[in-house]
Amino acid sequence: MSEIKTLIKFDNLPIANNLSEDMNIKNPEFDLHIVFDEETKLVQLHNNVKPEFLFNDTYVYDSSQSKTMVNHFKEAAINLYDRFKPNKVLEIGSNSGIFVNNFIDLTDVIAVEPCGNFADLTNNMNIKTYPKYWNKDVVETILKEDGKQDLIFSANTISHVQNLEECLELISKCLTKKGVFVIEAPSFLEVLKNNTFDQFYHEHQSYFSYISLSNVLSKAGLEIFDVEFYPVHGGSYRYYIGKNKEYNKVSINCEKVLKSELSYGVDSYEKVKDRMDIMKRNMIEIKNKLENLTSEGNIVIGYGATAKLIQVVHMCGLNENLIKYVVDTTLDKQGRYIPNTNIQIRKYDNNCLNGVDYCFLGAWNYKDEILKKEKQFTKDGGKFMTHVPEVSII
Ligand code: TYD
Repeated sequence: MSEIKTLIKFDNLPIANNLSEDMNIKNPEFDLHIVFDEETKLVQLHNNVKPEFLFNDTYVYDSSQSKTMVNHFKEAAINLYDRFKPNKVLEIGSNSGIFVNNFIDLTDVIAVEPCGNFADLTNNMNIKTYPKYWNKDVVETILKEDGKQDLIFSANTISHVQNLEECLELISKCLTKKGVFVIEAPSFLEVLKNNTFDQFYHEHQSYFSYISLSNVLSKAGLEIFDVEFYPVHGGSYRYYIGKNKEYNKVSINCEKVLKSELSYGVDSYEKVKDRMDIMKRNMIEIKNKLENLTSEGNIVIGYGATAKLIQVVHMCGLNENLIKYVVDTTLDKQGRYIPNTNIQIRKYDNNCLNGVDYCFLGAWNYKDEILKKEKQFTKDGGKFMTHVPEVSII
């Protein structure tokens, strides 16, 4: 039996993407308890909320809202097609379809997506979509109707899965002998380096390092044979995984990533725990800085109603006096509230930053894209504040 040790615990946090329609309605709150498994070195949430609370037909995260992500997944699709020439492609957690839609004219492609609003989108693009969680039943149906797959892709979804062992076994079952399973997931090493405590939220069940992912994959007879770094979502890895070394030569990249993680101490409970203390100090600093800015009469708003910003609000104890409101381009988020606060999400338009002194960068993962877009705001004296990798004014 492996030993599970606490890294950090937050009491009573609402679910980040469960935005409130009405500020008078209080959403349910749940603890967020982050633990380290001594056997696999995997960092995970302990006793998490049921998936039905997290991913349902009102799920608001829409990957197509960012040009960066649309381009990223288009390039991913082209590269993967060129490298592996798959005849059958499947995506787990296809969201608005910005990966799968690139295969429509190339090869057979299917999607699995439990959020009905997004499953409808890809179905309407004529992509066969299973509006389901990735589980035994859906895999049985896929094997019967579509057969084994040559390429299974999943970006930022495997880290959401609560029954990881079963999920990986089912992937192995659904993959052809020479098939390739490709995962994208934020790198836990980057979370540690950049103090991005706001990546801890109920949707994110697992925080993978190369080391921990290798350990859990090996239990399902799977093995990483290549890994690439991408700057998306605060620094992510794309892992290439297969069933058999015979078909996939292990790339030198694997050794490089392993070395960098070992030298940082990602596999050491004590070292990771030390970083949690730095994150706690970072949270206090954010609140202090916002208190100073607002007490000087500055208007401070949030830019990008990300799940990350919602975590910052709750973990740092912020309210509408410190972040007046948040602007966001996502239609479904506009008019709603950061759960259990009076901070409203407003529509982003050309004039929405008029009169604003500081924008707290909620979507810090799109910093370059946003700073480029908001040149006029900064030219007119407006400023951005970020907490990544440390609290600062840009
Ligand atoms: P994202 O960081 O992808 O998700 P999360 O932290 O929730 O996983 O969300 C980006 C959000 O930022 C999304 O709601 C759209 C918004 N956004 C803007 O409002 N303007 C922009 O220019 C960009 C790039 C994003």
